[in-house]
Amino acid sequence: MTEPGSGPPLRHVLAADQFTPELIAELFGSARAMDSRLGGPALSRLHGRLMATLFYEPSTRTRLSFEAAMLRLGGQVVSTENARDFSSAIKGETLEDTVRIVGGYADCIVLRHSEEGAARRAAAVSPVPVVNAGDGRGEHPTQALLDLYTISSELGRLDGIRLVMVGDLANGRTVHSLAQLMASYRGVEMTMVAPDPLRMGADLVASLRRRGVVVREADSLMDAVGEADVVYQTRIQTERLLEPLSQDEGERDRYRVTPQTMARLPQGSILMHPLPRVGEIDPAVDADPRAAYFRQARNGVPVRMALLAAVLSA
Ligand code: CP
Repeated sequence: MTEPGSGPPLRHVLAADQFTPELIAELFGSARAMDSRLGGPALSRLHGRLMATLFYEPSTRTRLSFEAAMLRLGGQVVSTENARDFSSAIKGETLEDTVRIVGGYADCIVLRHSEEGAARRAAAVSPVPVVNAGDGRGEHPTQALLDLYTISSELGRLDGIRLVMVGDLANGRTVHSLAQLMASYRGVEMTMVAPDPLRMGADLVASLRRRGVVVREADSLMDAVGEADVVYQTRIQTERLLEPLSQDEGERDRYRVTPQTMARLPQGSILMHPLPRVGEIDPAVDADPRAAYFRQARNGVPVRMALLAAVLSA
């Protein structure tokens, strides 16, 4: 049986603005073909190729789904899952030098780092493609691609989506990338629901509006959920806050998803979350068929398979 095609050629994957709707459609075609083969024998498209995962921040989904994707394509993996403590960074080696070295060992580098712009710095010196797996409060473009793939798979369209984003819109890199990707589609409306210190940056909101997105703000999720096709919940990124967010229980409840929130969410709409969650979605909601977050996390494998095939065939 022939194997799924490699999709479009790509070099570095650094930011959402690299991805046009045409490129995304090609990638998703490849991801769907990969998806249909998951659970069967490993493919051999990337046989003999080696991916390095260099993670300076914790991860469950991104690192393991990239590694699963590479192994399922017949490739191999070398990894440092806590590069801040267990690579020579602890001795003072710069990111640039580490990337030059690892780029001599592997055919691509998947990098997660705590500093915004780290993936671009790495790409500037790397002899091999660099994939941004999250750079501080900057971007998480591969998460946004799997989010878009989930919306497309669940709702059957990407145009005309009414997207409600809730939680930490200032520091959440997944929403920064997702908002930019969604802005490429027609008739998109976004409602932002965030505590005052965690509102989405004014520059990004202005850029979305310039691109034709209708952007609104709401004080509570309950006010916005009735008009949503997609509710995209996020965790408060406590590790990035300069001072703890002070919120009483009543304020926290304005941003939480509970069975009462789901009662107001239209049938046919979906609830997403990049995960991990830490209390902002009541587990009582998990059994609702509109709760798409575990399906969303699984979609990381075929989407990252398609990305790796594209990056390593360029
Ligand atoms: N969604 C996401 O980036 O999860 P991890 O931090 O577990 O990789």
